[in-house]
Amino acid sequence: MINSNPVFLRALNKEKLSTAPIWYMRQAGRYMPEYRKVRSKFKNFLDMCKDPEVCCELALQPIEAFGLDAAILFSDILTIPDALGLKVKFIEKEGPVFENPIKSVDDVNNLIAFEPESLSYVYEAVTNIKNALPSDIPLIGFCGSPWTLAAYSIEGHSSKNFDKTVKFIMNNKDQAHILLSKLTDACFLYLRRQVQAGADVIQIFDSWANILDSKQLNNLSFNYINSLIVALKHDPVTSNTPIILFAREPSCNSKTLIETSADCISLYWSMNNFDIELARGKAALQGNLDPKILLESKETIKNETYKILNRFRDFPGYIFNLGHGITPNINPEKVKYLTEIVREF
Ligand code: CP3
Repeated sequence: MINSNPVFLRALNKEKLSTAPIWYMRQAGRYMPEYRKVRSKFKNFLDMCKDPEVCCELALQPIEAFGLDAAILFSDILTIPDALGLKVKFIEKEGPVFENPIKSVDDVNNLIAFEPESLSYVYEAVTNIKNALPSDIPLIGFCGSPWTLAAYSIEGHSSKNFDKTVKFIMNNKDQAHILLSKLTDACFLYLRRQVQAGADVIQIFDSWANILDSKQLNNLSFNYINSLIVALKHDPVTSNTPIILFAREPSCNSKTLIETSADCISLYWSMNNFDIELARGKAALQGNLDPKILLESKETIKNETYKILNRFRDFPGYIFNLGHGITPNINPEKVKYLTEIVREF
């Protein structure tokens, strides 16, 4: 009997496939001329995220251009802090800037409770995208990890070391944990609604895991990611939804990542010491190609890609992806080429 399940879901289910399913982090974005055309109609990026029809068009662009095996919701991880009243804006060449960042213990205590329906524009986008996609292309919903959302909410903007955040947490440990718990609850309610609206898979982005040492990582990030995963696995709406965890260069061993009980671990491009054998049968794996390789010649792209595909050749449940998002300076032709050579392997 032919297995009619989409290849992406089969890989997440830890099946060994002859060809790895493919999708790319930040597959919809500024590197695509089609995206830039739509983007030019909006001054503020979040206003664009608040238009469910536009989000649907943007999520489909890379599927149409490259024939990928999964779509990702077009939105941003900062919708939750925006819904909590922190007022997020995106400034050209600067990134996100918060008008009301968390500055004090009182700001944490006075934070409003997350009301999932305040992000109904996201769930509407999910339903639109799901309805527009071919039935064999699953849709990924997502959220930022509680730690990554807390880091932006305290710092108020992107940063290399998040010094202000680290200082706030060291000086206000109890309030930091209250904030992280509130964000964990918000992420749970938010993802649950995305799944109700049609998301087939969930990805959690711990994009600022890399600034924490191993003790802080457990205490401030993985503790909360673990609670979030447990809550999702115990809720009838989300109990069967595969969960992918992307943590950027976390200072922990492979075992700790696998023990989060995420169904799939997304490997950052520098994580070459990850113990694949330890993950066998316990978690699917995704990613690992350095996005900067896409700036190189086709020959280099092929060599580096085939090194990765050879490494995961016998692994049950490998999904091809980059080790982080596609950057705006990448030529879409290279993405097309990359997709072709993975299918030819
Ligand atoms: O196909 C897709 O993946 C699009 C959906 C998507 C976006 N952001 C759209 C976006 C997803 C999944 C994200 C996740 C996201 N957002 C993360 C986690 C992934 C990662 O890269 O680690 C983070 C940290 C953010 C926060 C964020 N959003 C920043 C720091 C920035 C500014 C930097 C930048 O790349 O411009 C954004 C803006 C953003 N999010 C853009 C897009 C397409 C560019 C906005 C524009 O067009 O002006």
